Amino acid sequence: MGGAAADCGYASGVKRYHLTTFGCQMNEHDSERMKGMLHALGYEEARARADADLILFNTCSIRETADSRFVAHLGEAKRLKRERPERVVGVGGCWAQSVKEEVFERFPFVDVAFGPGQVHRLAEFLTSDSLSAQGYFEFEGFTGHLPARRERPFQGWLQISVGCNCACSYCIVPSTRGREASRPPQELVEEVHAMAADGVREVTLLGQNVNSYGRDLPAGAPAPGAPAGSRRQKPTFAGLLALLDGVEGIERIRYTSPHPKDMREDVIRAHAELASVCEHIHLPLQSGSSRILKAMRRTYDRERYLDRVALIREHVPDASLSTDIIVGFPGETEEDFEQTLAVVDAVRYDSAFTFIFSPRRGTEAAGIAEGVVAHPVKVARMERLVERVQQHARERAQRFVGRTVEVLVEGTSRTDPDKIRGRTRHNKVVNFDGVAVPGELTHVRVTGASSQTLIGEEMLVGRAVA
Ligand code: SAH
Ligand code: SF4
Ligand code: F3S
Repeated sequence: MGGAAADCGYASGVKRYHLTTFGCQMNEHDSERMKGMLHALGYEEARARADADLILFNTCSIRETADSRFVAHLGEAKRLKRERPERVVGVGGCWAQSVKEEVFERFPFVDVAFGPGQVHRLAEFLTSDSLSAQGYFEFEGFTGHLPARRERPFQGWLQISVGCNCACSYCIVPSTRGREASRPPQELVEEVHAMAADGVREVTLLGQNVNSYGRDLPAGAPAPGAPAGSRRQKPTFAGLLALLDGVEGIERIRYTSPHPKDMREDVIRAHAELASVCEHIHLPLQSGSSRILKAMRRTYDRERYLDRVALIREHVPDASLSTDIIVGFPGETEEDFEQTLAVVDAVRYDSAFTFIFSPRRGTEAAGIAEGVVAHPVKVARMERLVERVQQHARERAQRFVGRTVEVLVEGTSRTDPDKIRGRTRHNKVVNFDGVAVPGELTHVRVTGASSQTLIGEEMLVGRAVA
């Protein structure tokens, strides 16, 4: 067996895991921590599921399509488990949390299931002698406390908070990720110092509602420079951005997602005033109709949203704006949908994620029987929306043509292996000719732009030759 293992380039006698990640950046972050924990336990990563002793899934349940994609993958795990019953199959993440013990009823070959607040329990299960299936679904800890194994050494996720206290009527997340809990600022600053020492240059702050950060924390010392006798204050998101901007070696700070209801001027100004905070804001709209926003329980209306956009344009005129939009929410009429298109026209987003409403178990909107939008109507609206979004994105991207932009190199182009791929501070992907390597910050002259990507050439003048 040792010989066979050596032939495929694996160390013999070492246990191997295979992890498939679905869903959002939170799950990508959690998966990096899961991997860090498994390596600390002596596991190595397998290249293929069939080579693994431990088959893991980090699941998402945000829309029905997310559920069905994952269930299709589980079929292979079942077959592999049948072939070698000592293999362990584990299911973590939001889908597992949303169905809890039902995982084992529906998929009896699963050995261990755990929610997003229970990743550390996976280690407990793997090191115990337990032969029976185990489920762990209490909200207990931040995955951010576990060691990380980063996908790219120069980019890091920072989990600033978990959970969500909002009650958006369509959304399953509050039930899968629990109540909002923030990590103390000092702990986050230390983590970012450690990241910088490891070579991280770009940090993305993660939370379901990043700009309500700190409301659940105790008031700390008055802000630096505040007059003597000032009151103790709770940490704020803008304050956290300022602290992290001060960390040497971190060149770029991004965050996702802010909630329009909590988007205050101090955060917007941070984009203009703090050198490392990038000129890109993702501000989820969901709908441009105040009536539908109310039914969605978003707690802002169309005017408040547009007012936030105006404030962004005032302080950071060149910022890129992106968003999330749902079409076909129950009760959405043609007129409501046209209001969404009107907001899209008014804002002129640089990009947008567009979704067809998907009823989720246990959510308020799943129970709305009146005004359900027929599927073909949803699809037709989605097509019109995507076309409009792309038109604006294409037009907006033209402003970069002829400019020289700072690019953090991520790898090679997905369509042309001879070109280098990187990302601008405005979060635009650039494919370019040049010599820079992943992790390097370079400058690229933009020669063309489509709705999705820019093309260009690296400015090599003055560049040190290694
Ligand atoms: N906490 C973040 C994002 C959560 S999920 C925020 O509030 O912005 C990412 C996106 O998925 C949401 O912004 C929303 O547009 C979409 N989404 C969530 N639930 C959905 C559902 N039931 N059907 C369709 N889209 C949904
Ligand atoms: Fe879901 Fe709303 Fe919370 Fe975002 S803010 S995670 S959409 S409930
Ligand atoms: Fe993210 Fe999906 Fe959970 S979008 S928070 S992994 S339901």
